[in-house]
Amino acid sequence: MIRPVISIIGAGGMVGMELLELIEKRKFPYSEIKMFGSGKKTKYVFFKNKKYFLKEPNLEELVKSDIVFFVSSDEVSKKFAKELAQKGVWCIDDSSAFRTDEKVPLVIPEINGDVISEKTKLIAGPNCTLTPLAISCYQIHKKYKIKEIRMATYQAVSGAGRRALNEFFYETESFVKTGKVKIKEKVLPKQIAFNIFPQVGSFDENGLSGEEKKVEFEVRKIWGDKKIDLSCYAVRVPVVRGHSLAVWVKTQKSWSIGNLKEILYKTDGCKFYEKHEDYQTPVDVSKKYYVAASRLKKTPFKNEFSLWLCGDNLYKGAALNSIQIAEFILKKFL
Ligand SMILES: NC(=O)c1ccc[n+]([C@@H]2O[C@H](COP(=O)([O-])OP(=O)(O)OC[C@H]3O[C@@H](n4cnc5c(N)ncnc54)[C@H](OP(=O)(O)O)[C@@H]3O)[C@@H](O)[C@H]2O)c1
Repeated sequence: MIRPVISIIGAGGMVGMELLELIEKRKFPYSEIKMFGSGKKTKYVFFKNKKYFLKEPNLEELVKSDIVFFVSSDEVSKKFAKELAQKGVWCIDDSSAFRTDEKVPLVIPEINGDVISEKTKLIAGPNCTLTPLAISCYQIHKKYKIKEIRMATYQAVSGAGRRALNEFFYETESFVKTGKVKIKEKVLPKQIAFNIFPQVGSFDENGLSGEEKKVEFEVRKIWGDKKIDLSCYAVRVPVVRGHSLAVWVKTQKSWSIGNLKEILYKTDGCKFYEKHEDYQTPVDVSKKYYVAASRLKKTPFKNEFSLWLCGDNLYKGAALNSIQIAEFILKKFL
């Protein structure tokens, strides 16, 4: 196993900073670490007591890396990732640029790490919202064949990046100081302090938001089953970090609640809370390496159960998943 040269594009952003924290926490080995940014806003970051100036990414430097983490934007990923992968660099992309590309694996290591091969050097990480669902219900799907999923999400503001989070803080602070919510930049479509709204991304002609489309498509791709019907309402809520989901899941085969509990307890990457009073919240899962499943109930509908799920969008929904993919690559291919 080599000590790879790693590059991070977007190191000063919300996910980038978490990635750096995890590299240190999990002692991810490297011989050199290079950091890149837009060159416009975040000028430098501190990592292990060293100051790293963020420069604009360029192919000449990136190609000298063994692994490149893309945690900036779709445009940047589209500009560099395919070419780098063709030149033999492992590219782990957190943006949505390649998730729908049939040739690019969409990976949550606990579920489908085995799709990664020497031939697929560009790997996409999934949207942070569906991760708790994809992880917690995968083993149930394997055993009882999930046919239909209905869900409502309660998504943290950090899921929309640093500018959105700053806007949330500004609105909240303005209310505390003046009694009125002031809006500085219109980063989000509506006021987020003391409010919620059912819009994450823009709407298509059928009224589906960008996020709802991602959730529906990506769960099918990660589970490798195009036949599942999903319907999602994606809602933004005034929470700093941690996405929550209320999900209703219908299976083809029948089960007992006891059967489901048994599977949930054994599901890799998921922590199950059986007692209803122990339900989990976004605060509880902050910086946790697992997604949490609680409030399991049988509904009145045939073969249907519901669950309350929480996961840290910046950890398992983004940076942690990327690090786990990198750890897998390191162990198997480098
Ligand atoms: N936030 C989440 O929960 C989450 C979850 C899953 C996936 N993702 C995805 O992860 C990526 C990063 O999200 P984020 O929340 O970290 O966003 P963010 O806080 O807005 O950070 C974006 C970072 O990208 C940098 N950047 C922007 N344009 C660039 C360019 N042309 N070249 C190089 N760097 C550039 C920015 O640099 P400056 O600071 O200099 O502007 C910033 O450091 C996005 O693709 C997002 O969709 C996010």
